[in-house]
This record gives sequence, C-alpha cells and structure tokens, in this order.
Amino acid sequence: MYSQLKTSAKYIQKIYPTIPQIGIVLGSGLGAFVNAITNSTKIPYSEIPFFTSTTVEGHEGCLILGEIEGVSVAVLQGRTHGYEGVPMDKIVFPIRVLSILGIENLILTNAAGGINHQFNPGDLVDIKDHINLLGTNPLVGPNIQELGPRFPDMTRAYNPALRAILKEAAKEVGFEIKAGVYCALLGPTYETPAEINMLRVLGADMVGMSTVPEVIAANHLGVKVCGISCITNMAAGIKDEKLSHDDVKDQAKKVMQLFSNLLLKTIAKIGK
Ligand code: HPA
Repeated sequence: MYSQLKTSAKYIQKIYPTIPQIGIVLGSGLGAFVNAITNSTKIPYSEIPFFTSTTVEGHEGCLILGEIEGVSVAVLQGRTHGYEGVPMDKIVFPIRVLSILGIENLILTNAAGGINHQFNPGDLVDIKDHINLLGTNPLVGPNIQELGPRFPDMTRAYNPALRAILKEAAKEVGFEIKAGVYCALLGPTYETPAEINMLRVLGADMVGMSTVPEVIAANHLGVKVCGISCITNMAAGIKDEKLSHDDVKDQAKKVMQLFSNLLLKTIAKIGK
C-alpha cells in the first residue's frame, strides 16, 4: 500500500512539482469552486495510478493543483464513498497521497442533512466533532507505520486552530458560522425518521455519508483538518418531505457563492 501511495505521489509531482500547502475536498454539488483556482493543472482520477474514480453523479473526480489567493492548493473535486462498494483504504488513498505531496492542512466539505432544529437548509456548519457509524474504520488492518501510529488520538480531531480561522473567515464574509457534530452512516439510503431520532439522542447535529474516513486518515497522518457541512435538507422526518439527491445538489448550488467566499477567505488566512 505504501509503495502504491508513493507511486501516485510521484506521478502527480512529475506533472506539477510545486508542494501544495492545503488540501481541499469538494463534496456533492460544491465542485464549481474549482473555477477560483488560478495557474491550475487538472488531472482526472482515472489517470492517476491507484486512484479510484467516483461513480456518483454530481461528484466530478479530478485532482486540481494550482493557487488560491497566492496559496498553493491541491483540490480533490469529488470523492468515493463506502456505499459505492469502495473499500475504506481506497476512500482515504487520495488524502494519504496529498500528505506525501506535502500538505499540512486539509479542508473537507460535504452535503449533510440537518438534525439540529436550529439548522436550516443553506446553512454552512463548522464540524466540531463526529460520530462514526460507518461500521468500519480506514485504519483497520495492519498499521502503515510510515504514515502514522497504530492508535491515533481523536480528542481534537477537528483542529482547533483551523476551526478558529474558519469562524473568523465566516465573520469576514458576513455570517456567524454554526458548529455541529457530524454523524456518518454508510448509506446509500437516506435515513429513516426513527434513525434520525436516534442520531439526535446520540448527539448528532447533522448526518451524511462521507468525511469521517478522511478525518480519521488525516489525524493518523498528523495533517491538520477541519470540515464544513452544507446543510442541503432537513434530515428525514423533520419536515413532511421526501429526500432526493437532485434536491441536495440544487440546494448546494444555491449556497455556492457564499461557500466559495468562505473557502477563499479561509485559505488566504491559513496561508498567512
Ligand atoms: N442524509 C444523509 N446524507 C445526506 C443527507 C441526508 O439527509 N443530505 C445530504 N447528504
């Protein structure tokens, strides 16, 4: 596995030798942010050795290297998910490659269903912690010692300094960012109302099908990570509505401008 990671990293370095400072993962419907990248080089996942192409509509599947606000970035436009049948080590593979390329910071984004009644569709939420209900963990199996320790600490999985920057950036773009606990389920079904009630009791503020594997991998690697959830819908049973992927994507598109502004400010601040 480690040699595969190095092969991927070498392939990317040959095309784009600059060391990226920040890695960014763009979730469902949030891919249009890549238009903000300057001096960019785009590599489809299908061309990178050992990368897995995503099968989800609305997730593009390209690595874009370039600059944002003068900061060198590596943007993963689209990700793979457990519900695609992709094993966890493949899901976190791109994060590990970015770490080998040299990123020290990682910003993860996703679309999520709001469980907390204080949240509304269109809210952007700073992930303060997570609950892993995927039923697995990307670090299961022999530990790859070159990457990190066998038993990583997850006490401050979402880096407090990055979270403070996110909060400040949100203020500067004109809103008070809410914070919440993200719970990851395998999917691909959306949850039942009974499951959403259970998740609320467990302490979850929002629910989705991604992000947690990448956060675990980043903590293992010692890469600082923060996460932004775009609340695309209230979770099942909260409103008398059916959930659909099209509505999730439409809602994500509506907040694209605010989301882009928040990311741009956050990146500029991390780069300082
Ligand atoms: N549940 C799970 N994943 C999601 C949701 C949801 O309600 N909305 C967007 N992604």
